Amino acid sequence: MSRLVIVSNRVPVPKPRSGPHAGGLAVALAEALAGREALWFGWSGETAGSPGVPSITTVGQTTYATLALNESEKRGYYGGFSNGTLWPLLHYRMGLAEFRREDHEIWRAVNNRFAAALAPLLRPDDVLWVHDFHLFPFAAALRSLGCRQRIGFFLHVPFPPAALFDALPQGRRILEDLGAFDLLGMQTEADANNLREALAGVDVATPVQAFPVGMDSAGFARDAEKAAAMPETKRLAESLGGRSLILGIDRLDYSKGLPHRFRGYAALLKRFPEHRRNVTFLQVAPVSRNEVAQYRALRRELDELAGRINGEYGEIDWIPIRWMTRALPRATLAGFHRIARIGLVTPLRDGMNLVAKEFVAAQNPADPGVLVLSRFAGAAAELRGAILVNPNDPDEIAEGLDVALRMEEAERRRRAESDRAALAANSAADWAKRFLVALDATGTSVGRAA
Ligand code: G6P
Repeated sequence: MSRLVIVSNRVPVPKPRSGPHAGGLAVALAEALAGREALWFGWSGETAGSPGVPSITTVGQTTYATLALNESEKRGYYGGFSNGTLWPLLHYRMGLAEFRREDHEIWRAVNNRFAAALAPLLRPDDVLWVHDFHLFPFAAALRSLGCRQRIGFFLHVPFPPAALFDALPQGRRILEDLGAFDLLGMQTEADANNLREALAGVDVATPVQAFPVGMDSAGFARDAEKAAAMPETKRLAESLGGRSLILGIDRLDYSKGLPHRFRGYAALLKRFPEHRRNVTFLQVAPVSRNEVAQYRALRRELDELAGRINGEYGEIDWIPIRWMTRALPRATLAGFHRIARIGLVTPLRDGMNLVAKEFVAAQNPADPGVLVLSRFAGAAAELRGAILVNPNDPDEIAEGLDVALRMEEAERRRRAESDRAALAANSAADWAKRFLVALDATGTSVGRAA
């Protein structure tokens, strides 16, 4: 079998003595990599004065090759064009996007530099799988160096309607760059349709297909059951004093709809006062991308909102919102999911949202909680047992919460069962396999014009 080369912005290089990596893509790809020789290439997450040759770590059959960015590259490539321009645009948030030509130039130069560092490590029959928006021009950069390997791309975030993407000054050029890939994978049919329409406008014919990302739900269910017996989970359970736990877990990001969610919870307390004192809302939102001004502003807004809601509805022995911006281990969160009565996942836009899937996987089948989910999360296409809400409307969030809090056990079990079946039908390994089989089936790249 040919070697698989994964390219992603962040690379989960295993740290000595700290076991396998817990997060996102690493977990999703672990099974796909098992038994296959692989090279994983990308940014080390570090900044260094003079970035040089990749540093290499080999664990089993996987070799990790990473490069640092210098300060100006980190600002232009990561904080600037990736997170200040592309991220808001891809999440339909034109108004938050900043357009600076020099950021785009640095972003492109980093893609070129990384491609030039990877090219000499490649073998002719390698298969490459590039991930996420930071690396849109990566295949084009490799092709210009003469690389003819098969190269697939997967976008973990949404792709907006063509007219919105067209607002990006470099939009057409980026769409043309995407033509250098052999296959473009999206999370949902809606994203795939948007990208197809945009590509048609620049005459790029690369196949675009939806491959909704899956997860190892049986493994997460086991972790959650184990975590339910851990001291942290018990501490949380005891502190609830019999109240129903409404749980939110997100990166502190404006795409997650947190201010709307807080207002939705406040609307619940206002319009359905019978729930006061009977619920506790715990929101865990670890600080993220703090170098970008919009993220700092969001944090301030949420600090203020949480304080105001607690001030308005709190009582001497009841605090309505518990608000944490510290990160907690995934295993601890698995236990929190299991004891929550409601998983509240209301992004304004999200590629998939694996937290929604983790909530479902973590539930006790005999007495499951209810997922209240944004209909603009990719997961909404699969999790039909969730209560779907429009996350822009705090009143609709409040009504969804009220229905979920009053739901009878039989109905909860019915919904949870249907969602569990949806998860079981799409594991992370299935997802990776589906993508790689489809990539393999694309017209051969060998012999393409360099
Ligand atoms: C999203 C993106 C990933 C990114 C992650 C964390 O899930 O799809 O590419 O790695 O957010 O963001 P960060 O900027 O910290 O890498």
